[in-house]
Amino acid sequence: MDELAEEFLREILSFYQGHKSELIPILLEIQNNFGYLPKEAILLVSNFINVPKGHIYSVASFYTRLRLLPLGRHRVTVCRGTACHIRGAPQILKEIENVLGIKEGETSSDLEYTLDTVACIGCCALAPCLTVDGKVHGAMNTDKVKKIFEASSVKGKHEQ
Ligand code: FES
Repeated sequence: MDELAEEFLREILSFYQGHKSELIPILLEIQNNFGYLPKEAILLVSNFINVPKGHIYSVASFYTRLRLLPLGRHRVTVCRGTACHIRGAPQILKEIENVLGIKEGETSSDLEYTLDTVACIGCCALAPCLTVDGKVHGAMNTDKVKKIFEASSVKGKHEQ
């Protein structure tokens, strides 16, 4: 983390009192500004509110809204809702994991993709569904997955 980022972190903390009860609001504010919780931020917060780093890591791991890793440039979200599940969401997710080389909740090492799942995208009639950067892809199958991601991950562009 560079000096500027650390200075910004300290500025964020300056708006708080340093109480243990401020942990979640502080983490959320850091994440809103950085996109995730850098390890340097965890250390600063730990010292600021006098809570062990391990506790902060377990809190950050427990709350799905909090991220310990940066997001990829492209966000892939696979629906695991009932309609999608019945129509093959587990196979779709597995295929994406194979194609991108990451598991659910992970970001690719080149920071190109972050893969997540969601309870329902709201397009159940198009099940199974996924979104790439918010764009819905419906009636998915493993061949369609390959087309979307082989074109985009290798050549750096998306099928729109
Ligand atoms: S269950 Fe997948 S879109 Fe609703």
